[in-house]
Amino acid sequence: MAIFNLNVNGKTQQIDVDPTTPMLWVLRDHLNLVGTKYGCGIASCGACTIHLDDTAMRSCILPISAVGNKSITTIEGLSENGDHPVQKAWLEHDVPQCGYCQAGQIMSAAALLKDNADPDDGAIESVMNGNICRCGTYVRIKAAVKTAAKTMK
Ligand code: FES
Ligand code: FES
Repeated sequence: MAIFNLNVNGKTQQIDVDPTTPMLWVLRDHLNLVGTKYGCGIASCGACTIHLDDTAMRSCILPISAVGNKSITTIEGLSENGDHPVQKAWLEHDVPQCGYCQAGQIMSAAALLKDNADPDDGAIESVMNGNICRCGTYVRIKAAVKTAAKTMK
């Protein structure tokens, strides 16, 4: 076990865990931030996507010991009141079906738009293709990303 001081959603959190513990389980089991979901555990579905500083990361394969002094943002910390432009666009387009994958989808989309303010279809597909949706909400996801991009301009 080892003690780690993390910045999660703007707050300092002290965690005493095995250094190999993936951030997904630190968030869910130690900090009760259960918006970040477990899908595959092998970086193949995107359900566990968080931001490490401004970069989208798969928290299921990110050991706590690799975080260092970078900030972590989860779906709970993306905005104060669920009013990030991506979240608003998701509501406008009624994107979720079962909802399971959607926190990861939103975190990937928010990171994409930080990096590329005006992504074309190819740019959206190449980033968002890594986030699997078993309900097949891909068409609405793409439309919502475009709406969020317009709002953020
Ligand atoms: S649970 Fe992390 S990518 Fe699937
Ligand atoms: S909304 Fe059901 S898995 Fe994506």
